[in-house]
Amino acid sequence: MKNLFQPLSFKHGAIMKNRFMLAPMTNLQSFEDGRLSDDEFRWLTMRAHGGFGLTMTCASHVQPAGKGFSGQLGCFSDDHLEGLTRLASAIKAQGSLAVIQLHHAGMRSPQDLTGGQAVCPSDNAETGARALTLEEVHQLKEDFVAAALRAEKAGFDGVEIHGAHGYVLCQFLSPVINQRTDRYGGSLENRARIIFEIIDAVRERCRPGFLLGVRLSPERFDLQLGEMIEVSRRLMNGGAIDFLDMSLWDVFKEPVEERFQGRTLLSYFTELDRGEVRLGVAGKIYTPQTAMQCIKSGVDFVLLGRAAILHHDFPLQAFADPDFEPVKTPVSREYLRTQGLGEAFVEYMSGWSGFVED
Ligand SMILES: Cc1cc2nc3c(=O)[nH]c(=O)nc-3n(C[C@H](O)[C@H](O)[C@H](O)COP(=O)(O)O)c2cc1C
Repeated sequence: MKNLFQPLSFKHGAIMKNRFMLAPMTNLQSFEDGRLSDDEFRWLTMRAHGGFGLTMTCASHVQPAGKGFSGQLGCFSDDHLEGLTRLASAIKAQGSLAVIQLHHAGMRSPQDLTGGQAVCPSDNAETGARALTLEEVHQLKEDFVAAALRAEKAGFDGVEIHGAHGYVLCQFLSPVINQRTDRYGGSLENRARIIFEIIDAVRERCRPGFLLGVRLSPERFDLQLGEMIEVSRRLMNGGAIDFLDMSLWDVFKEPVEERFQGRTLLSYFTELDRGEVRLGVAGKIYTPQTAMQCIKSGVDFVLLGRAAILHHDFPLQAFADPDFEPVKTPVSREYLRTQGLGEAFVEYMSGWSGFVED
């Protein structure tokens, strides 16, 4: 268990006091214009107080048009700076690294939230989204970088680029969704280009020690595992990022693609030469024992989602008792309130199967 509490240093200078990151979690608690609410502030700062070495915000949109959820935290306007500054400062006061996840929902931005037609790398019949022009692709890239600069100005230690779960950067990666014929479509190199350009620009324009991570999910949305392994290899070989966060939804699962089966999906990433880039994983890590198993199987840190909702102080609990077991779900609404969830988040969690009592 000792390993879970060893500090982890990142290539560009940040140090995480232990191996527990709070996974990015949408919680619908911000104001509709993207400004931070007291509920979202409480939910996150309680996790910093509860011992997480790094506290990550929910997916935060970098353009109004990229909003994916009602009550989503925004990072696209200087109007967000006051709340973000307050948040970063309170997280860091607890000795936790403060990181904001940067996001754009692309074709998955509901029109009733954005007031306009959703955008996507290519026209998408299923969602009615329209293709981004080349100029808009450049603007999208610029807005990810502008959001990173805003996060830096607000005092965050760093950002995580959300390249997972079928949102816009993942839509670029997908050989099926992305049908562009310019330098952002076609070959894998072209489909991944926007991610690498964002990384390079953040590195160039944010301060040298700024923490930079990328989140990928290697399956679904017509992604091909072989390609995602290749993108991960390039991300780690490049050394421009500090960490790669693999969102697997189940750390022990096997790949969906038959030719890769017979071993865990995670093992395809732990075996890559990662140089000084740190590798983390999320998916059904509910106990310190499971977290430890992940470390033993070769990752540098773990990200906790639902276990961190259930226990704001999971890392402290794990430190006190290596056999700590989380409360059984479903839990009551009242219980979730004791863990710092506001009403909007409690309501959202009631839509997650088996999590909240009827
Ligand atoms: C309520 C909820 C909201 C989530 N929102 C995000 C998000 O904003 N960005 C993201 O990358 N993943 C999001 N996820 C995925 C989590 O970060 C995590 O990878 C996933 O829940 C698996 O971890 P777990 O089994 O520990 O919950 C969300 C998950 C949950 C449960």
